[in-house]
Amino acid sequence: MRIVLLGAPGSGKGTQAKRLQQDRGWPQVSTGDLLRDAASAGTAMGLRAKAAMDAGELVSDEVVLGIKDRLGSDGAGHGYILDGFPRNLAQAEALDGVLAELDQTLDAAVHMDVPHDLLIERLTGRRTCSQTGKLLNIYYSPPEELQACIDAGGELLQRDDDREETINNRLEVYRRLTEPLIDYYRRLDLLRVVSAEGRIDEVYARLVDVLGDPSSAVES
Ligand code: AP5
Repeated sequence: MRIVLLGAPGSGKGTQAKRLQQDRGWPQVSTGDLLRDAASAGTAMGLRAKAAMDAGELVSDEVVLGIKDRLGSDGAGHGYILDGFPRNLAQAEALDGVLAELDQTLDAAVHMDVPHDLLIERLTGRRTCSQTGKLLNIYYSPPEELQACIDAGGELLQRDDDREETINNRLEVYRRLTEPLIDYYRRLDLLRVVSAEGRIDEVYARLVDVLGDPSSAVES
């Protein structure tokens, strides 16, 4: 299946995309991860992107150009999960153009719906293990999972944009620029809504449910 995961920062897009990738084999294409990799590599584009990300703003729409290669690549033959892209109307329209060029169609755009106060807690608590890369949360992860990272010689790293002042701007940018895509995909009859409150397993079960039977998905 070809899926867009839509949702506010902290709604669990990355968490659920990774699980779907593991279970179904559809690669997760995360523009946030691609941009963070470019920033770590210190490329000129990466450093420009980092400045925007650290301020909680969107990076310029040029990211679309990088995405096109990923969607047409061999690994994407059985579908993919777009996590964090598109993020505004211009990107959604650009994506439609790229899909038409590749002779592909989307199967669903899933809105991960979470109350605002939960988002702040999830984002301020998020940590990534420097050793295993595992996504954790100081408020919700079992203590033994947090300790396993330390025992493996890792550190619990916080993303630069997960500080409270930046989070507020990210949520405002989401409301202003990304939320209108919910209507955009509703009009295209592609929208599915998942309540993303509750335990990670419960949200995953709801997500799989709205996606339906994978054997009926388009695979080309
Ligand atoms: P990006 O990396 O895409 O960040 P985001 O959209 O702000 O989303 P997050 O990664 O913060 O949250 P998530 O929904 O993936 O939640 P997660 O699963 O991690 O983008 C970062 C920046 O890059 C943007 O601000 C922008 O500058 C730039 N950018 C990216 N794409 C762009 C584009 N297309 N155009 C322009 N700029 C772009 O979960 C969060 C935490 O909650 C974790 O700790 C997790 O363990 C926990 N958690 C998740 N689900 C649950 C649950 N059910 N119960 C308890 N805890 C949970």
